[in-house]
Amino acid sequence: MYLVRLIYASRARKGFGPSDVEQILEVARKANAQKGITGMLCFNGYNFLQSLEGSRTAVNELYRHILEDERHFDTTLLEYREIIARDFDNWHMGYLGLTKENQALLLRFSNNLEFDPFKMSGATAHAMLCELSATL
Ligand SMILES: Cc1cc2nc3c(=O)[nH]c(=O)nc-3n(C[C@H](O)[C@H](O)[C@H](O)COP(=O)(O)O)c2cc1C
Repeated sequence: MYLVRLIYASRARKGFGPSDVEQILEVARKANAQKGITGMLCFNGYNFLQSLEGSRTAVNELYRHILEDERHFDTTLLEYREIIARDFDNWHMGYLGLTKENQALLLRFSNNLEFDPFKMSGATAHAMLCELSATL
């Protein structure tokens, strides 16, 4: 089965906090390891950007669950493509919380320091996640 990559953006529900991120990551890392899914999640307290890599079956099934997850909304597909190799093979779900300290990285991929994945192309979102993962 060949590999695919899926990238989406979404918005956290009101009241979503750091302990909710921790809970998602704990469950996600165990489940992703079992299903051969790797990827990267980025969150600034309001918006999520996530890349999922794995078999088409596994990625499609996980995305269906993610679409139904009530902890976030406005889930918007930015990219879906077949890939030759993974970019996040070290991470069953890498995580980077964007803060004022590390947001300077964003300037390379945007005309300002605002993290708004809804305004990004799939290619830009992917390049940014690769750059961010190198800082982990
Ligand atoms: C922003 C976000 C990212 C998520 N990422 C993953 C993930 O990488 N892997 C995973 O198994 N679940 C992830 N989840 C959780 C799934 O939406 C879902 O709760 C989980 O797959 C369990 O689904 P189930 O309770 O229907 O079995 C994520 C949820 C959110 C809100």
